[in-house]
Amino acid sequence: METKILSPDENGIAAAAALLTAGEVVAIPTETVYGLAANALDPAAVEKIFAAKGRPSDNPLIVHISDISHIYKYARAVPMAAVKMAEAFMPGPVTMVLPKADIIPPVTSGGLDTVGIRFPVHKAARAIIDACGFPLAAPSANLSGSPSPTRFSHVMSDMNGRISGAVDGGDCAVGVESTVVSFDDDGSIRILRPGFISPEDIMEAGFKVICDRGVTEKIVDGERVMSPGMKYKHYSPKANVTLVEGSLPEFIRFMEDKAVDGVFAVVFDGDVFPGKNYITYGRTPEEQARQLFDVLRRLDGIGCKQAYIRTPEKQGVGLAVYNRLLRAAGFEVIRL
Ligand code: TXA
Ligand code: MG
Repeated sequence: METKILSPDENGIAAAAALLTAGEVVAIPTETVYGLAANALDPAAVEKIFAAKGRPSDNPLIVHISDISHIYKYARAVPMAAVKMAEAFMPGPVTMVLPKADIIPPVTSGGLDTVGIRFPVHKAARAIIDACGFPLAAPSANLSGSPSPTRFSHVMSDMNGRISGAVDGGDCAVGVESTVVSFDDDGSIRILRPGFISPEDIMEAGFKVICDRGVTEKIVDGERVMSPGMKYKHYSPKANVTLVEGSLPEFIRFMEDKAVDGVFAVVFDGDVFPGKNYITYGRTPEEQARQLFDVLRRLDGIGCKQAYIRTPEKQGVGLAVYNRLLRAAGFEVIRL
């Protein structure tokens, strides 16, 4: 099929809403990453998302809303902690997992009794949801397993010809997907996937925070997980990725005998690295979040077969960057 390229202006938003209303799939920009959107209440439309992405059917989709009160339409129960979380962080890059209302079809929630609800802050995303008048189910707009798309070119390289439309909103401001949280019975917030809203941010807002084991630990076969996305290999370029933990001098020493074709170092901006086969991915956690997926995609273009990546900081947004890199590396970490 032809993928219509649309602008994030009035005409483009109306055209995107018309395609979505007709039950089609359209890629839309959000502040985190591009999403692959369809009517969350229409099972046939949602099926098309799974087909376009090649996504396992047990991995649930996030439901995107453009009005805070709609949480009550799509969740059957909203604990007080969720009300407070919404007040503190919505609209913004956070997803709340709540008991699902019957109106959400099982295909959208991957057969679970819960639903992830997100209220994006991105102007065009909100305008499209508003124009539709129904919520949008939207996973990241990449082929299943590939790095998430943070630029329009990433969307087109994965989805051109597979979906009806794509809205070009330029580069995504945040660069990593939303923070996914659920609510424990004692009122604490459980982080299922770290994102731009960090554990520290949530603690500062007055919550007790628990980082689920799946955020930094490998899930063993058959283990029950809090979030199906934890089970799958993710964000992988074709190159083999290895995380390397240590100081810059230790890293340079480690790389000394590895200066061969196809082996690349991925270091921080400003690192004085002696070899020529290296690329950088920002310095601050925020920069690293913004550049991470683009860098993972670029590795394939430069003929990288093996990438050794310096481990980022694990505080703040850094935890989200670390979590994505662990998955890209299949949890292969060398500690110097
Ligand atoms: O920032 C984002 O969240 C982006 C943009 C497009 O909004 N979306 C996104 O969707 O990253 P996706 O499908 O690529 O990742 C959603 C993650 C998956 O790991 C999924 O397993 C988890 O959220 N998830 C969704 N619904 C859930 C639920 N009911 N219970 C537990 N985990 C859930
Ligand atoms: Mg994804």
